[in-house]
Amino acid sequence: MKKILIISVLLVLFASINKAGSDLPGQFNIGALPTVAPAPADNPVTREKIELGKQLFFDPILSANNKISCASCHSPTKGFADGLDRSNGFSEGVKTKRNAPTVLNAAFNGVDLQGNLDPRNSPQFYDNRALSLEQQCLEPLLSPDEMKGSALSAEVYIKQLEQKVTSIKAYRVLFSRAFSDSTASIDKITKAIATYERTLITPNAPFDRYMRGDLDAMTEKQIRGMEAFMSTGCNNCHSGPMFSDYKLHVLGVDEHPGLEDFDTGDGTYAFRTTTLRNLAYTAPYMHNGSLSSLQEVMRFYERKRSKHTEVSNKDLAPEFKALKLNPFNRVRANAIIAFLEALNDPNFDQSTPESLPSGLPLE
Ligand code: HEC
Ligand code: HEC
Repeated sequence: MKKILIISVLLVLFASINKAGSDLPGQFNIGALPTVAPAPADNPVTREKIELGKQLFFDPILSANNKISCASCHSPTKGFADGLDRSNGFSEGVKTKRNAPTVLNAAFNGVDLQGNLDPRNSPQFYDNRALSLEQQCLEPLLSPDEMKGSALSAEVYIKQLEQKVTSIKAYRVLFSRAFSDSTASIDKITKAIATYERTLITPNAPFDRYMRGDLDAMTEKQIRGMEAFMSTGCNNCHSGPMFSDYKLHVLGVDEHPGLEDFDTGDGTYAFRTTTLRNLAYTAPYMHNGSLSSLQEVMRFYERKRSKHTEVSNKDLAPEFKALKLNPFNRVRANAIIAFLEALNDPNFDQSTPESLPSGLPLE
């Protein structure tokens, strides 16, 4: 039934594309998100774990100086990003190397066009260096620039963190409810946070509703924009339900002027294709936040040239160089931007806990 629906939507689409006389998209390889994010067998989703994970996500008790929480850089009021080019890190004046991506739909990283996703093979970060939400969570906790600071080794800090959280009575209650055991081990901390993140999804953007058969969910301009997005070749990298192929590509984005050392991505200046969902809430853009608006991003793509001193034009991704874009065609650029707006969905949990088990103030 679902298949028939999708096929008929595609037929209607292709018919309308032909009627409009525009280029046929090479491949219709974008689609709706599933409505539930799958969890690994050893970390099933429960209401108790979501509740605990949410408290931990907002609680600066997880940082060595009791000042930084996950929400400091991934705030619900800023689309679970922070609105900065690079985030404010552990100590005064320290900034992270990269832009904080949104946590919204991170639980879907790796999902394919058919909606399949193995939560143990769910690439995270601009260089795909973590392969699950559970694994990802350890990185900010143990990063000297983010939550650990540089005074303690990882081993010492993990012990301290486990003791610090276990010593709080309200957490012991929450951990026993979630895991039938009141001690706050690092394993349980990361499992609970990952479980909360699996609820931070937005599978009902206008585009998703349109793809599921509600043909009024997108405006005509957005539908034309979707055609332009595909005939331009954006979907050669921004594909699937996440609008990402989860691959690393060289685009030659300008270096951030504030960085001491160049950020080489995977070592070759390649970075992971970002999701295009919820861009309305997550400016500035690119791995270092160097582009502040979607207009600027479109102009960057129109140039099809490296802006990085260490990246030559011949090293640029072939799909980037092949984009069918004309710098004077603002109509096309604006149509694509209109389509990107159909990928915004404000229906996510924007609430913050009223108080925290640690008693520390919320940001
Ligand atoms: C000081 C700011 C900061 C803090 C604190 C922080 N993050 Fe992040 N987060 C970032 C940055 C920057 C990146 C991108 C780093 C990269 O790709 O190398 C990131 C990436 C991520 C990603 C990957 C998203 C994707 O699509 O690839 C997830 C998930 C995430 N953070 C969750 C968390 C959680 C959970 C915590 C708390 C345990 C946390 N973050 C704490 C700044 C922060
Ligand atoms: C070669 C593959 C490729 C093609 C083709 C491509 N992109 Fe991208 N896109 C990427 C990568 C990789 C990034 C991240 C680059 C970085 O951070 O340095 C990105 C980033 C973006 C961002 C920033 C998102 C954010 O949250 O920071 C937007 C918006 C975007 N692309 C839109 C488009 C549009 C529109 C097109 C078509 C005109 C397009 N892309 C074509 C690979 C591609």
